[in-house]
Amino acid sequence: MPNAARVSLVGAGPGDPDLWTVRAVRRLEEADLVLYDALVDADALRRVTRAQCFCVGKRARRDSVPQETIHRLMIRAAKQGKRVVRLKGGDPFVFGRGGEEALALAAAGIPFEVVPGVTTAVAAPGLAGIPVTHRGLASGFLVLAGHTSASVDNVLASVRPNSVSVVMLMGVGARGELASQLVAHGWSPATPAAIVCEASTPREWTWTGRLDGLGGAESPAGATGVLVIGEVVRVRDALAVASRSAAREDSAVADTPGADNEVKYGRV
Ligand SMILES: C[S@@+](CC[C@H](N)C(=O)[O-])C[C@H]1O[C@@H](n2cnc3c(N)ncnc32)[C@H](O)[C@@H]1O
Repeated sequence: MPNAARVSLVGAGPGDPDLWTVRAVRRLEEADLVLYDALVDADALRRVTRAQCFCVGKRARRDSVPQETIHRLMIRAAKQGKRVVRLKGGDPFVFGRGGEEALALAAAGIPFEVVPGVTTAVAAPGLAGIPVTHRGLASGFLVLAGHTSASVDNVLASVRPNSVSVVMLMGVGARGELASQLVAHGWSPATPAAIVCEASTPREWTWTGRLDGLGGAESPAGATGVLVIGEVVRVRDALAVASRSAAREDSAVADTPGADNEVKYGRV
């Protein structure tokens, strides 16, 4: 196999290309072929790379490319001496099937590397002003895939209720059932909860309330998002209160016509 041939399994973070790592950008600049997921910003990608780019994720009216086909495409291109980037949302090893892709490459004898990305499990709450750990509120956090209720049950059975923050990916559609599962496992219905959709994009949307209100919360149709359950959600409200009172003290800000009351934490 030619020396340059290599597959990079690269994390693209939650959506905003500003959150791509320096190494991710370098690999994209050097790439001959990029296979990217649906949530990746395709315009930003084309600005960074001259490689051939194919979306292999699920897009409107089109199914995703089967996993086996993605393995075959990566292996074939690497054998032809191409530098391949497999660009995945968030971090490639967090619910992204990156482990399966690494195993397929290893089995085929293809040199590969992992370029970690900013996972939405931490970034989406963070951009909404919710730290997943906070002294006195949560000293740990649990990241779960919310689309299979049996595996959620198994994990919740092994955790003391209200002892950690819970972040659920792929769970917005089933948020009512997931909230009921938590309550059935002993979590207080009054536990603070949040939904953060499309974090780091112009469509970012956040709801906060109680665990027992999660099912009734109306999120934007079709939006991708994470659920956050735990006392840490209160930090977002505390930050908003603190920011508003600081803004009131700063008359220059308070007197600006049309000044936005909505507090954003993603960008300064
Ligand atoms: C297949 S998982 C991939 C997770 C990814 N590997 C990571 O580390 O974040 C897709 C899930 O990530 C979450 N997600 C992806 N992008 C998001 C964003 N911009 N805002 C909120 N959640 C997002 C949603 O829960 C979505 O269902």
